[in-house]
Amino acid sequence: MVPDFVEFGLPTRITGGDDALAGLGDELAALGITRVFVVTDSFLRETGLVGEVIRHLGRVEIAGIFDRVRPNSGVDLVEEGAGCLAASGADGILAVGGGSHIDTAKALNLVHTLGGRLLDHQGAFNIARPLKLPLVAVPTTAGTGSEVTPAAVIWNRDERTKLTFFSPHLAPRLAVLAPALTRDLPAFLTAATGFDALSHAVEAYVSVTHNPFADALALAAVRRIHRYLGRAVAGGDPEARWGMQTAATMGGMAFGAALLGGAHAIAHALGGLCEVGHGVAVALVLPAVCSFNLDACPERFAAIAHGLGASGPDPVSAGAAGIEAMQSLRAMCGLPARLSAVNVPAALIPALAELAATDAAIVTNPKPMTAADIAAILEALAL
Ligand SMILES: [Fe+2]
Repeated sequence: MVPDFVEFGLPTRITGGDDALAGLGDELAALGITRVFVVTDSFLRETGLVGEVIRHLGRVEIAGIFDRVRPNSGVDLVEEGAGCLAASGADGILAVGGGSHIDTAKALNLVHTLGGRLLDHQGAFNIARPLKLPLVAVPTTAGTGSEVTPAAVIWNRDERTKLTFFSPHLAPRLAVLAPALTRDLPAFLTAATGFDALSHAVEAYVSVTHNPFADALALAAVRRIHRYLGRAVAGGDPEARWGMQTAATMGGMAFGAALLGGAHAIAHALGGLCEVGHGVAVALVLPAVCSFNLDACPERFAAIAHGLGASGPDPVSAGAAGIEAMQSLRAMCGLPARLSAVNVPAALIPALAELAATDAAIVTNPKPMTAADIAAILEALAL
């Protein structure tokens, strides 16, 4: 069947490998950056990771360092950072950290360019022109794919919801994948971020807006995660860290084009309302959401199963075997499988279901998913 319309674009150049940081100064200069504003957090500064990056800036000066990013960056923090960015006189932004850091950097650039309140610009395709400053992303986790995506998610603390922003203008101009920067990531965070990458690949592959280009990247990401996540969680394996970094970036490329689904809608609700970490939240719900979706596109789930080393005599059986493989991988990585394990009381399920049912990610789930469906999924995960 020929689709009505397919679009695939990647505004982000990618460099990577053991020597990827060596050329950072030249790369920034090539983007016209002379004074860079660094977005990171104080812990990454203390561990020396930020120093490891900025010592490669060459002739590029540091206009300022905003090191107050948190795992769940909020609107207030973004608006504070945007003020610091404006005062710094920087002509470029360098994000060093995980998804929250890179998303925060995107949001700073957005407020810096368009002014007003961050809340004014939420939603999809609401940004009419390119943002003022080129953004360079240096991820220190392997999972979010934010280094290549046109998306940002920011916590609205007042409403206890996640705000989503989606526009090609948000995408970094350059992503630098230096696997050595993930070497000290604790096993649990390696697992949680790795499962986020898996969820991006899986949700993009079964999305109603899937396309052949995103498909190729999604399946490649699934295969790499199957091969490398366990090794990366075990630690001390440079090849596995590189394998996971590239898989995470491929997952980001896939969902940047094909979007996401129910697992992310529910994870956004769990993060917004209950402050459950994003990777933990998606890992908790991904297999159950896949089981719900299985009959909508069993051949697609069978292909995912194949990437995870699972099979079956027919597409539905193969897809189910793939979902079991996800559950095994989750258990092997030490990630929780129950809401009670992340201190989410069952009494919150109706509110979580209502929130998730209105999340932007639910729109591209392969099967309509109502608040009642979501509540049933969460009830089964409660204890
Ligand atoms: Fe995610």
